[in-house]
Amino acid sequence: MEELLKSLKAKAAELIQKAADLQALQEARVKYLGKKGEVTALLKGLGKLSPEERPRMGAMVNTVREELEAMIANVQAKLEAEVLAAKLGAEEIDITLPGRATRKGHVHPLTAVNDEIERFFMKMGYTVAEGPEIESDYFNFECLNLPADHPARDMQDSFYITDSVLLRTHTSPVQARTLQSQKPNSPVRMIAPGKVYRWDYDATHSPVFHQVEGLVVDKGITFADLKGTLELFLRHMFGEETKVRFRTSFFPFTEPSAEVDISCCMCGGEGCRVCSHTGWLEILGCGMVHPNVLTMNGYDPNEVQGFAFGMGVERIAMLLYGIGDLRLFYDNDMRFLKQF
Ligand code: PHE
Repeated sequence: MEELLKSLKAKAAELIQKAADLQALQEARVKYLGKKGEVTALLKGLGKLSPEERPRMGAMVNTVREELEAMIANVQAKLEAEVLAAKLGAEEIDITLPGRATRKGHVHPLTAVNDEIERFFMKMGYTVAEGPEIESDYFNFECLNLPADHPARDMQDSFYITDSVLLRTHTSPVQARTLQSQKPNSPVRMIAPGKVYRWDYDATHSPVFHQVEGLVVDKGITFADLKGTLELFLRHMFGEETKVRFRTSFFPFTEPSAEVDISCCMCGGEGCRVCSHTGWLEILGCGMVHPNVLTMNGYDPNEVQGFAFGMGVERIAMLLYGIGDLRLFYDNDMRFLKQF
């Protein structure tokens, strides 16, 4: 048995030493030290020996087992170090390469214009309100003095979801929502920016576009307040030398109503292609809040008066940046966006 143990140890040692990888090493361990391994078999066979021989042989087999285990641990450490070294070599990074710069973005030109409008009115003490884009017929038309059969509804080709629900065609419903959310006759000074939807598509119209609504209600508000506010605003946006004019117009929710023009910011009023050689650019709609609108939304027109205005953000951005086609805002073409 001693002879057998000796040659077993030699063979096992050889197999362990020349194991090329962890897999081969594991196979060697199983072959000799596993449950059905050859050294394990010797240990199990000790029972057949005489009681005198048993302790001595037992100790010898155990010593061999421990020696082989130590040898396996050694080789394993060596193989693992090799695997790690190979991995480190393969995954080496060249720290002398120039860094990959992350390109810094910036806000979209429409967002920039919208933010500037908000900033101006917030400085004037206005709050910023929001309303839903999916709106009821009631808020979009009815309580803005546009009853069901009113011909002015045809001015706005609309996206209906049901007979009484549609994508809002303007931000004016936020006027009604704001008034209804207030204690009757309490003062209001708010703007409402947001998306609006109309069935239109060409170089200057998009089915989705952005408006900013404005509403001021208080005791003794006059058309002079409206004029002063909008003149200040338009000079802030387009420059101090900008001329502003008010033309009579019609909106069902304001009376009187006006369309506001600015002197053409492209030609300075000389006349050019952008202003159709008139020297003027139409820029927003406004007026004094119609008494019916105040009444329908819980306010008393004998107690308070107000003015309202609405403007298109795309139109203002196109004029400010000299952009000829509004669809460029939505194409997400980097060659366009990078210019701002
Ligand atoms: N809601 C009108 C439009 O979309 C603009 C407007 C708002 C006019 C407020 C007057 C007062 O055309």
